[in-house]
Amino acid sequence: MSITSPRIKLSEDLKVLWHLLLRPVRGHTHAERLESFYRGQADSYDSFRSRLLHGRERLIGSLEFPDDGVWVDMGAGTGENVVFAGDSVSRLRAIHLVDLAPSLLEVAQRRMQERAITQARVHLCDATQFELPPASVDVITFSYSLTMIPDWFEAILVAQRLLKPGGTIAVVDFTVSRKFASAPQRQHHWCQRTFWTHWFAFDNVFLTPDHLAMLTRLFQTERLEQSSGRVPYLPLLRAPFYLFAGRKSRQRCDPSSSENHVFSRDSTYEFASQSSGDCQLRPGRGTV
Ligand SMILES: C[S@@+](CC[C@H](N)C(=O)[O-])C[C@H]1O[C@@H](n2cnc3c(N)ncnc32)[C@H](O)[C@@H]1O
Repeated sequence: MSITSPRIKLSEDLKVLWHLLLRPVRGHTHAERLESFYRGQADSYDSFRSRLLHGRERLIGSLEFPDDGVWVDMGAGTGENVVFAGDSVSRLRAIHLVDLAPSLLEVAQRRMQERAITQARVHLCDATQFELPPASVDVITFSYSLTMIPDWFEAILVAQRLLKPGGTIAVVDFTVSRKFASAPQRQHHWCQRTFWTHWFAFDNVFLTPDHLAMLTRLFQTERLEQSSGRVPYLPLLRAPFYLFAGRKSRQRCDPSSSENHVFSRDSTYEFASQSSGDCQLRPGRGTV
């Protein structure tokens, strides 16, 4: 089946809704559960998600991809972000599409072949395990994938390690605010926080205010927008999402500063100066 722009078809939507709402997800590992969830809906994915996953085109289309640059899309799914990036991808040296669901990567692979995007490679790999030389990547994107990556802390740390100093990280995803949000984060009412957290958790999509907390600490914020978008077949509801774009610091760091400590779920990380003057994260002294 060729991959063109998504068109709405009721039969395709019903197939997706069956997987989203009714079909049990099976599997012992995260990878098995993802493939169980996506296998039956991979070919209908783009049409339905184009009406649910808002802000992707706006964010990806606004990014600056440097000539001869390297782009990693973490949790790339069907590779549609490459289409959103437009003509600028032709100037890139390499595009790495990383995902754990083979059925979605097959669609991505076909899409790259159809569009003759020869510098794109798909990687069946966990975003937390993806390896390239440190500080070798210009742009890293996560579109609606952080909420599905159990160890999203590690995925962000991997991005921090792979990015060149001055490189760009861009994230678009669903979110809920803390009970007491601090500016510039938007406050969500208890009903929104409770409803959307439980609604998405049913499909193993875990909303948290902590993505933005970690992203804004680790990277220099260049863009932060919060909005809400329509959900297909639920005309009265709007799901909250954010757009974030930030840069990895070019500055030397002061490892003694308490500001240079960040916390992951199972260990403390601290910034450490490299001989290059770059700031890297490494496991620190304490555990939490
Ligand atoms: C909601 S989809 C978004 C896909 C695509 N980025 C988009 O915008 O259409 C989330 C994607 O994250 C992938 N994913 C979840 N956990 C992952 C992990 N640990 N490593 C790599 N990909 C992961 C899923 O397989 C899925 O393709």
